[in-house]
Amino acid sequence: MTDAQAIDALGWERRTFPPSEAFKQNALVSDTSMYDDGAADYEGFWARQAADLLTWSKDWTTTCDWKLPAAQWFVGGELNVSYNCLDRHVLAGRGDKVAFHFEGEPGDTRTITYADLLDETQRFANVLKSLGIVKGDRVNIYMPMIPEAAIAMLACARIGAAHSVVFGGFSALSLTDRINDAEAKLLITADGGWRRGEVFPLKQTADEALLHTPTITDVVVVRRGGNEVSMQDGRDHWYHELMATADPVCPAEPMDSEQLLFLLYTSGTTGRPKGIMHTSGGYLTQVAFTHKYVFDLHPETDVFWCTADVGWITGHSYIVYGPLANGATQVMYEGVPNFPGNDRMWQIIEKYGVTIFYTAPTAIRTFMKWGAQEPAKHDLSSVRLLGSVGEPINPEAWMWYQEHIGGGRCPVVDTWWQTETGAIMISPLPGATTTKPGSATFALPGIGTELVDENGEHVEHGGGYLTLTQPWPAMLRGIWGDPERYHETYWTRFPGRYFAGDGAKLDDDGYLWLLGRVDDVMNVSGHRISTTEVESALVSHPAVAEAAVVGANDPTTGQAIIAYVTLRGGAEVDEQVLRNHVGTEIGSIAKPKAIYFTPDLPKTRSGKIMRRLLRDVAEGRNLGDTTTLADASVVSELQRRASEVPPED
Ligand code: WTA
Repeated sequence: MTDAQAIDALGWERRTFPPSEAFKQNALVSDTSMYDDGAADYEGFWARQAADLLTWSKDWTTTCDWKLPAAQWFVGGELNVSYNCLDRHVLAGRGDKVAFHFEGEPGDTRTITYADLLDETQRFANVLKSLGIVKGDRVNIYMPMIPEAAIAMLACARIGAAHSVVFGGFSALSLTDRINDAEAKLLITADGGWRRGEVFPLKQTADEALLHTPTITDVVVVRRGGNEVSMQDGRDHWYHELMATADPVCPAEPMDSEQLLFLLYTSGTTGRPKGIMHTSGGYLTQVAFTHKYVFDLHPETDVFWCTADVGWITGHSYIVYGPLANGATQVMYEGVPNFPGNDRMWQIIEKYGVTIFYTAPTAIRTFMKWGAQEPAKHDLSSVRLLGSVGEPINPEAWMWYQEHIGGGRCPVVDTWWQTETGAIMISPLPGATTTKPGSATFALPGIGTELVDENGEHVEHGGGYLTLTQPWPAMLRGIWGDPERYHETYWTRFPGRYFAGDGAKLDDDGYLWLLGRVDDVMNVSGHRISTTEVESALVSHPAVAEAAVVGANDPTTGQAIIAYVTLRGGAEVDEQVLRNHVGTEIGSIAKPKAIYFTPDLPKTRSGKIMRRLLRDVAEGRNLGDTTTLADASVVSELQRRASEVPPED
C-alpha cells in the first residue's frame, strides 16, 4: 500500500446502517436476489422490467442492439410515453388519484389528479398540432416550476415531438444557443415565475433570445407571474387562450421504442454545451424501475417529493417520467427553500404528509447552516425514506439528514447518476443494503461498473476512474448533431467502456465512494458548469485579456467558481461588472464566487495554464513543486492576494 492509499483508508467512514426490521417488513426488496438476476443476464433482466413496468402497444423483437457506441433498446417495440404516464392509470380507475400537490411560492395551491393531467395534456397536444408541430420536431421549454412545465413535456411526448427544456436560470444567450442547436420550431415559456417573494421575468428574457432564433415560428406563454409582457402579433400566444378552444381528445399514438423523447443540454469540457439525446422505451423502463425500487415506492400511500427543477435531468426523470409512469402522488414546489422562512421545506412536508424526500447535498448543507431548530418546528413523522443526488455527500451532511429530517429511522439513499445515464445507476436498495454515510454503495441490478486506473487496468481497492462496462436502457443515444463528439467524449478514454468523468474509491467491503469530477467540469450546488465555458464568458468582455477558472472546494456548494483574470493593457473593470457579465453570458448559476486580478497567469514553459496549481492556491494548499512554472513569482503573488482578500459570499 502506498502512503496515499494508507491515508485514504484511514479516512474512510466506518459507521454502518443496516435497514431496520420495520423498514424491511414492507420493503419491495429486502434481499439481494435481484442483484443475482441482473448479473446473470442483464438484457433478460431489463426485458423483464420493461414488460413488468410499462404498457407496450407492440412487443420488441431484440432487447438490446449494441454496436459500440450505438445502443438501441427494445428494438421494434412500440409504446407511447404519455400513455404510460397518464392514460393507463386513468383507464385503471385511478383518475381521481392526485398526481401533483402544487405549492406556489406565494402560498397558492393546486391539486391536480391524473384525470386532470391527462385532460390538460391532450388539449395541449392538440395545441401543439394546431401550431404545426409534428413528430420529430423539437420544442423548447423555458419555464418556472409549475405544472404546465410537466404538461408541456408530456404533450410533446404524446405526439412524438422532442422537448428541450432550458433551466429558467439560464441567460438569453444560453437559450438562443440551445434553441439554435436543436433547430426548435416552438418555444413554450411563461410571463414570469416566483422566486424569493418576487416575480422574475422569463418572457422578457425569452424575447431577447428570440431576436436570434430563425427557426422559431411560434411562442406559447403561460400566465404565472402576472407581470407585464409584450406579445408579438402572429408569433406569441397565451396558453390559456389556446387551451380554451383546444379539442379535448388527442389519442396517444404508438411510437417506436427509439423515438427521440428529449434533448437536454449539459456542460462538457469544452465551451459548447452538448445536447444529450434520450429516447423512449429504454429511458422510461429505467426511470420507472429506479423510481420504484430505489425509493421503495408504494404508490397507494406514498407522497414523493423531489426538490429538483424540471430544467435538470433530475426533474425530467424523478418529477415527470419515473413517478408518473409509476402512478405516484407528488409534491411540486415552485420557489426557494427560505421563503417566507427557513422552514418552508419542512412546513410543506408536514402539510402534505411527504413520505419520500429527494434533494441535493448543497441543500442539506444549507439546511444544516440554518439549524436543526427549523425542521424541529414541524411534524416530519410521515417521512420514511430520504434520497440525495447531484454531488458527493459528505458524511456529516448525511448524518445530519438522517438524524434531523429522517428522525434516525429512515434509510438514506445516495444516488449517483448523470444527465447522460438518464436514470440512477449507483445507489443502495433501501430495504436490502447496509449503508455507510457518504457512500453511494453499489451499482444497481442490471448495471455494470468498474473502477480502473490510468491504463484501464482493474482497480480492486482504492482510487480510480469510474467506468460503465455494459449498455443500460436509459443511456444517452448520442449528442445532438455531433456523433463524433459522442464517441470521442465517452467511449475512447477507456476502449470498450463508458467513462463517466468521475473519480471514485472502493473500500474493503466493495463499497463505492464517489469523489467528483476528474475533468474540467465543475459541480456547483449540483449544477454542472465547465471551466472553459466560464473562461470564454470572461474573455468575451472587452476589458479581459485572459482568464483561468477553477472549481475550489466549498463547504456549502461543494465547489465554488474561482476566476483569475488578466486585463488588457490600460483596461480597468470592477469585479462585480465581470460577475454580471458572466451572468448575462451563461446565467447567474455560473457567476464566479471570487475573481482575482493578476498581471500574469501561472503557465508551464510550453504556455499551458496550470490549473491544478491555481486550484491549490484557491484552496489555500501548500504548493509543492513549481519547477515547471515559467515564472514562479506569479504564484507567490497570487497566494499573497488569496490570503488577503477573503472571497465574498
Ligand atoms: C455528480 C445529475 C457524487 C457526478 C443527476 C456526475 C454525484 C455529475 C452524485 C452529473 C452522487 C451526481 N455522488 N457525485 N450521488 N450524483 N454526481 O449530469 O460528478 O447534472 O458526473 O446529473 O454529478 O451531473 P448531472
